[in-house]
Amino acid sequence: MSTHNADPRAELKRQAAIEAADMVKEGMVVGLGSGSTSAFMIEELGRRWAEGLRFCAIPTSEHSAEQARSHGIKLVTFATHPEIDIDIDGADEVERGTLNLIKGLGGALFREKIVAAASRRFVVVVDDSKLVDRLGARVPVPVEVASFGWTSTARRLEALGARVTQRLDRSGNVFVTDGGNMILDCHFGEIADSEKLQLQLDRVVGVIETGLFIGRTSEVIVATAGGLQRLRA
Ligand code: 5RP
Repeated sequence: MSTHNADPRAELKRQAAIEAADMVKEGMVVGLGSGSTSAFMIEELGRRWAEGLRFCAIPTSEHSAEQARSHGIKLVTFATHPEIDIDIDGADEVERGTLNLIKGLGGALFREKIVAAASRRFVVVVDDSKLVDRLGARVPVPVEVASFGWTSTARRLEALGARVTQRLDRSGNVFVTDGGNMILDCHFGEIADSEKLQLQLDRVVGVIETGLFIGRTSEVIVATAGGLQRLRA
C-alpha cells in the first residue's frame, strides 16, 4: 500500500515507522496507532507478519483496524488482553523538553489515549517537522466532545481562552469520530502549562477527551534528513 506519496515528509515518516516496527517482537501485544506515519508502521508489521512474526494487536481506529486486517494481523480486545506491551503511534506536535504531545488531527485521539494508557511502552514516531519548543504554536488542541449541547461545551472551552472551531470532514460535513462524537479544535496558541490546561479541559462538562498527551511518552523516534534520533523521557 502506498497512499502517502503526496506528503513531502512521507519518506521520513516511513523511516521512523520502520525503526519502531523493529521493536515489535514475537508474542507481544501491540497498540496500533492512527494516521499516515502509523500506516507505514502497520504496513511494515504486515510485511513482517507475512514473514512469520506472530503478535496480536489492538488498533486505535477503525481505519487502522481495517489496514491491519488486510494484512491478516491478529486483532484482540482489552477483554482478553488488558495490558499492551508496546503502543506505536504518531503525533501532531512533540514538545522537545517534556515529550508531551498534541495528537488527534486525524480524529482518533480518544481511542489513542485509551491504548496509550494501557501500554507499558508508548513509542511515538514522527518526522522532525513535528518537534516544537512549546505545544500549541502551530496546531490546535483537538477536543472530543459529546454532540449533545456542543455549543454550550464550546462556550466553556472559549472561557478557558481557546478560539474554537468545529471539525468538518473533507466534504464539509460535521466530522464524526469512531465513537460517534464530534471534535472541537481549540486554538490556544503557545501553551505555557500544558499539564494545567489538560486538567482544566478535563473538568469541562461535555468534554470526552483531549488531544493533550501529558507524561505518557516513553520514547520518540524522530526521522530527520540526517538520520534517525531517539528522544527518551
Ligand atoms: C490521529 C493522530 C495522528 O497520530 C497524528 O495526527 C499524526 O498523523 P500523521 O502521522 O498523519 O502526521 O493523532 O488522531
